[in-house]
Formats: sequence, C-alpha cells, structure tokens
Amino acid sequence: MKNKIIKLLKENKNNFISGQDISNKLGVSRTAIWKGINQLKEEGYEIESVSRKGYKLIQIPDILNYEEIKEYLNTKYIGRNINYFETIDSTNIKAKELALQGEKEGTVIISEEQTLGKGRLGRGWASPKYKGIWMSLILKPNIDIMKAPKITQIGAAAIVKALREMNIKSFVKWPNDIVLNNKKICGILTEMSGELNRISYVIMGIGINVNINKEDFSEEIRAVATSLKEEVGHKISRKELVGKVLNNFEYLYYKFVNEENFKETIDICKSHSALIGKQIKVINNKSTKIAKAVDLNDEGELVVQYENGDMEYLVSGEVSTRGLYGYVD
Ligand code: BTN
Repeated sequence: MKNKIIKLLKENKNNFISGQDISNKLGVSRTAIWKGINQLKEEGYEIESVSRKGYKLIQIPDILNYEEIKEYLNTKYIGRNINYFETIDSTNIKAKELALQGEKEGTVIISEEQTLGKGRLGRGWASPKYKGIWMSLILKPNIDIMKAPKITQIGAAAIVKALREMNIKSFVKWPNDIVLNNKKICGILTEMSGELNRISYVIMGIGINVNINKEDFSEEIRAVATSLKEEVGHKISRKELVGKVLNNFEYLYYKFVNEENFKETIDICKSHSALIGKQIKVINNKSTKIAKAVDLNDEGELVVQYENGDMEYLVSGEVSTRGLYGYVD
C-alpha cells in the first residue's frame, strides 16, 4: 500500500492530491491512506498535509527501498525483488535464511543498518544507519562449484564500474576489496552452500562506506578504511549507486553464467587493479612472503613473483594480500 501511495504522490509531485482521490484510485479506505502516509513520514518522506487539499510530496529521502532504487535499475532479475529493512543483524544471515526457504535468484536484501554486520575472517563490519550500502544478493548459478569464487570478482568489477559511472575512480584490491586513495571503501563477503558439485546458493554480501564521516570510524578502522564522502568531498546518492552496481553486476554475471564469458570482468579488474605492478605481502595461514604482483590471469588468479624469481598463481579465498607498509602500498 505504502508503495502505491508514494507512486501516486511522485506522479503528482509539487501538487496536492486529495485523500479521496488516492482512496478512489487505490480502492481502499481513507483511513488506510492516512495510515500509509504516516508510515511514509516515519520512513523520512516529507509530506505536507492540508485539510481539504490533501497531500503533497515535498522531499524524498535517500533510502534504499525498491520504490526508490527502481528509478535507477535497468535489470531483468537482479534487484527486482528487494527485501528492505530499517535494521537487521546481518543481511547475509537473512539472505541465507531466505535462500534456504527457496527464495529466487536475484533477490536482494538491503538494510539501513546492521547490528551484527559480518566481515571476512570472522571480523565484524561497522554498518551505521543510512550512511552506507549494506546489501546481500541471493544467487543460484548453475556452474561448477570450483568457479564460485569468480562471483566475488564479478561483484568487484561491477562496483568499480558503477563508481566510474559516477566519476569516482576506485581500485580493486584483489580479490575482495575496493579501495580509494589506498584505503578501503568496500568489502565483499561471499558465502556459499552446496554439495559435491552442485551449488545450492551463493550469498554475495556487499558493504560500501558511502556517507560515513571519518569521526564515525574507530581509530583502528580509520587507519585502513575511509568513505566515498570523505574522499570525494561531498555526499553520494546511495540509491543511484545501488542501482548502478546491480545493473553492472547483472550484465557481467549473465555473461559469466550463461556464456562462460569472464573476460570482461577480468579486463575491468585488471585495468582497475590496486596491486598489479606493486610489491605486496602474500599472507596465508602458514607464512607471509614478499612478492611482486605481476598480473591477473584469465581465471582471475593473481600472478605473483617472489624475490627468488619463483612465480605463483594465487587463488582467491586461499590467501590475502597487503601492501608492504600499509593496506595497499
Ligand atoms: C570484508 O571483510 O571486507 C567483507 C565485508 C562485507 C560486509 C557486507 S555488509 C552487507 C553484508 N552483510 C554482512 O553481514 N556483511 C556483508
């Protein structure tokens, strides 16, 4: 009901529309309309109500429900069903729950805040209200289980491409992070469930620090992370960015799953690589070694050369990388 009301108000932007008109058009009582309007006001829509004139939409908030995001979406199935929350423990947890209940591919869970946001390696993920993009995609690709890690790289490519379309040049810190000015602005947490050779679902959780102020980060996080707003100097439209990320993701994901084409993703990750050409630390659970990141191959493996000349192809998920001195450099 709320969505139908907001649609009518948007169609009549800058004009009043009477409660009676809305109720006639939607075929529900005026009390139901009144309740819907109040809910919208609580969500941040600024609506003027004047007796005998009706309702007028004054200001649309930057919130991430389907009604707001759909203006920017040109996808067929990714993000066409959005489960929107004001607050939640973790969108990845919710996405898993729904995937298990049979939720279809392409459904996106978005929350304005997370109280138990999950990062990689068991870490937490700070997710303050209305200041970032905290979302998870439910995917059910019919591909070999070994290829699943590539989905994270498709996500990374979609994000840098979307930011580029908004004139922001960010880089992929292979394979899971997006960085800007050498600090992390986005992380991806991909979780999978399957058996032997069949994927039952993949959850791709994306966290983008959009309009967070640097004071909002803990001192520890501030050393390695930042937000788009801090780096570009002004607020960024979260709904536009969500739309663009989902558009680019669907395009690259469709190519990968249906045409076995992973090349465009690799090209984007390569031309936006934060690591290629740099000395890095290669960290696995046994050791930390210094190497030069040389290339990203067609399989999405990071090609590195160690100080003794040995080459290695790093598979995402098995190692992590750091700059020699900081997060990237
Ligand atoms: C990382 O450690 O870099 C990955 C961070 C992933 C955070 C996102 S926010 C939306 C989704 N829900 C979660 O609980 N985590 C991911």
